[in-house]
Amino acid sequence: MKTADLEAIANKMVANGRGILAADESNSTANKRLATVKVEGTEANRRAYREMLFSTPRLGEYISGAILYDETIRQSSAAGVPFVKMMQDQNILPGIKVDAGTKKLAGSPDETVTEGLDGLGERLAEYYKLGARFTKWRAVITPGAGTPTEYAMNVNAHALARYAKLAQDAGLVPIVEPEVLMDGKHTIETCRDITETILLKVFNELIGQRVHLEGMVLKPNMVISAQDCPTQASVEQVAEWTVKTLKRRVPAAVPGIAFLSGGQDEEIATKHLNVMNKMGPLPWKVSFSYGRALQHTSLETWAGKPANVAAAQRVLAHRSKMNWAAASGKYTAEMEKAA
Ligand code: 13P
Repeated sequence: MKTADLEAIANKMVANGRGILAADESNSTANKRLATVKVEGTEANRRAYREMLFSTPRLGEYISGAILYDETIRQSSAAGVPFVKMMQDQNILPGIKVDAGTKKLAGSPDETVTEGLDGLGERLAEYYKLGARFTKWRAVITPGAGTPTEYAMNVNAHALARYAKLAQDAGLVPIVEPEVLMDGKHTIETCRDITETILLKVFNELIGQRVHLEGMVLKPNMVISAQDCPTQASVEQVAEWTVKTLKRRVPAAVPGIAFLSGGQDEEIATKHLNVMNKMGPLPWKVSFSYGRALQHTSLETWAGKPANVAAAQRVLAHRSKMNWAAASGKYTAEMEKAA
C-alpha cells in the first residue's frame, strides 16, 4: 500500500465541488426503493435502474465517485459495457460497500453492530481487481430511550477502524461512516451530543489502529433535529452546529467530509451543504455522498419505463449539479429553478 496513492484518491473524491453518488443499496433495500415506484425487485430491474444512473450524460462533471453493491460492480449495461468501465469513461471512481449490514447487538438488542470483518481482506483484494478504488462501511448509532450505549458506540467504532485499516492495506480509500440516525423525536442538542461522542470514539480508534488519516474520507450525519422532533432547527443552525461539531472532532489531516443525507429532503440537503461551505475556509473539503437526496426524484421520474430514462437522467444531473455548486458555497435559488 502506497500512502501517496491513497491520498491522491481521497483528494480526488472531494476536489472541485464534486461529490459521491451512493448507489450501494443492498438488494433488499434496492427492492424496497423499486417497490415505491411499482417496479418489481428483480436483478434485471435493479440493473436497468443503475444503468440509467451511470449513463447520465455529464454526470462526471459533478460526481467524483459512485458507491456500488457487490451485485452492481459485476453488472454491465444492456449493450454489454461493464458499469465499472462506464464510470471510468466519465472520470467517476468506482467504489464498493464492503460491510455486510447491521445485526442486532448481543447484549443491547435495541442497537446494532455492523458486520463483515470476516474474510474482508480477501474480498477487498477482489474488489480492487474489479476496479474499485474506494470502499464504504456504515455503522449505525441509534438515539432512543437509553441509547446509544457506550458499549454499542465502542464496538461500532472499533469495527470501523478495523475495516478502514484493512481497506488501506488493500490500496482502497475507506469511507468511514458513523451514522447517527435522524429517525425519531430527538432534538438537535441530542444529535450534537451523540455526534460529538461517536466521532471522538471513531477517531480514537482510527488513530489507535494506525489508519492513515490523509487517505480516508469521513461520511458523517449532519447535526440536525430528528424527523419527528416538534421543533425543527433552521438551515443556518444545522450548518453552524454541524461545522462546530466537526471542527471539534475531525483532525485537519482528513482531506474530506462527504455527508450522508439520512432522509433529508433533497433541496434541504443541498441548502445545508451550501451554508456550511459559505462558512469557510474549513479545515477539510466539505462535500456530499448522498443516496436518497440524489436519487429520490430521479427514481420517481424513471418508474421503470425506458421512455422516462432521459428525463430521469436530467433530474439526476440537475440534483448532482446543485450539490456540486453547494460544495463550493455557490448554490442559489435561481440555479434550482433553472432546471
Ligand atoms: P442516504 O444519503 O440516503 O442517507 O444514503 C447514503 C448512504 O450511503 C447511507 O449509507
